[in-house]
Amino acid sequence: MHIPNFKSEEGSILYKNTVGRRISPRVAKVILSHVAQNETASTRRDVLDLGCGPGVLGLSIAAQYPQFIVTAVDSSDVMIALGKEEAAKQNLSNIDFRTMSVEKIDLERKGYDLVLCNLAFPFFPRPFDSMREVYEVVRPGGTVFFTVPGRQTWEEFFDVTTLVLGDMAMMAKPFLSKFTQAEMLPNAMAAAGFEKLKEVRTRLPFHFENGQAVLDFFSELFHLLDYAPEDIKEEMINAIDQGHPNGFTMHYEVVLLSAQRPQMPESAPELSGKPHL
Ligand SMILES: C[S@@+](CC[C@H](N)C(=O)[O-])C[C@H]1O[C@@H](n2cnc3c(N)ncnc32)[C@H](O)[C@@H]1O
Repeated sequence: MHIPNFKSEEGSILYKNTVGRRISPRVAKVILSHVAQNETASTRRDVLDLGCGPGVLGLSIAAQYPQFIVTAVDSSDVMIALGKEEAAKQNLSNIDFRTMSVEKIDLERKGYDLVLCNLAFPFFPRPFDSMREVYEVVRPGGTVFFTVPGRQTWEEFFDVTTLVLGDMAMMAKPFLSKFTQAEMLPNAMAAAGFEKLKEVRTRLPFHFENGQAVLDFFSELFHLLDYAPEDIKEEMINAIDQGHPNGFTMHYEVVLLSAQRPQMPESAPELSGKPHL
């Protein structure tokens, strides 16, 4: 098992071809549908897409809301280059891509009305510090929407893997730690000072037509079974095909957290002169 490092050049391309193509656009739609509930066609908003990757979410927002000004940041140069390329292709002038790490968000805008983060939080090295950094760039009264994978995300896949590989499936455990980090999200938000936290869990079905398709996807993503003998791979494919003759459907658990930075407290009326006695 190899944990993908999406920040490397190889990882960025891998991401774009696997999760970035198949999963993150659907997870991004969960954020988009919640954003749409609060937006009118004409309100102008400053939006930040954090850990934007190749721009799946930021580009959709910029296209759907031409009046929004979108800033999309990611610590990977390669991801940012992919995003810029796509923005140019789509002729979008209301989105600006920058290479930047969430540990030090250095932007000249005074604050963002909306900060969005799709599936990137589990990769932040210091989640609590990063969330405090995020808090600083949200305007008072502004909203954040984060999605993270829930613990149940790949459980059907890991069930089959354990069936065939037994204890070897433990090799997947380091990847599962990303899911544990994801579950820290509400605490990180509350500790940073956000309020009105709201969590919505959704399970998105992903259908693979057969065992071979499942293995192709996960082999590419995790390099799972890179070193496994052919008969083990065959065994996994057979286990999936026998248990799921009509194809294998997995349910990706999306956890959407929204929260607000509190409004500025009303300034206290100025006391002037001496108190009336
Ligand atoms: C799973 S990808 C999600 C990309 C994108 N949001 C999407 O929905 O397709 C995680 C992204 O987080 C970025 N990332 C990881 N650590 C980061 C950090 N400390 N600061 C900014 N971006 C980071 C990675 O480079 C990668 O593009």
